[in-house]
Amino acid sequence: MLSQDDLKRAVAKAAVEYVPIDCIVGVGTGSTANFFIDELARIKHKIRGAVASSEASAKRLQGHGIEVLSLNDAGDLPVYVDGADEITRHLHMVKGGGGALTREKIVAAASKKFICLCDASKLVDVLGKFPLPIEVIPMARSYIAREVVRLGGQPKLREGFTTDNGNIILDVHNLSIMNPVELEAALNQLAGVVTNGLFARRGADVLLLGTPDGVKTMTA
Ligand code: 5RP
Repeated sequence: MLSQDDLKRAVAKAAVEYVPIDCIVGVGTGSTANFFIDELARIKHKIRGAVASSEASAKRLQGHGIEVLSLNDAGDLPVYVDGADEITRHLHMVKGGGGALTREKIVAAASKKFICLCDASKLVDVLGKFPLPIEVIPMARSYIAREVVRLGGQPKLREGFTTDNGNIILDVHNLSIMNPVELEAALNQLAGVVTNGLFARRGADVLLLGTPDGVKTMTA
């Protein structure tokens, strides 16, 4: 029987096909993205380098001898490859389980195509079972927590965690997200929110879903 890691490895392998020759690749964060980084290392002579969405991914890329560029130097990217915590058939996602949501959203925004890599367990009908991460400026913590309660969620501080940008994460439980585009915008308008983990306004373009029957490709 295939393990979850086998499925992640399979989608990571499939994603390499989406990387154009001689390009700079946008690279996500997390265990699935790590499998992709390992696959990317096999074709490192065919790419110019990568832009990483976290310090952890930058370190792993560099460990494989792949050059890591800043997004400011790289300009627009042809492709961004990353995992997700939940994804719907519309390719709306919840991300940020690893706390890298802000840089992920920036690199995704600067990329022409977002290729999302998931094992089958991540495909859901409605987002929100996985707690929605929100990156918050530390002084706004209590204010944002109160606002989130007004919106029907239960915020929980991610204890002992600081983002790469020096901020905190509130994980919001008990949301049933029927309108992800609207909620993404509403949360982002709260003063003190840096980003929330809904990737709906700019969702994925392609989902490579690892299933026991092979890798399935879904498009928005
Ligand atoms: C990190 C993320 C990850 O993409 C998400 O948490 C999925 O991680 P994994 O591939 O380990 O299941 O958004 O901030």
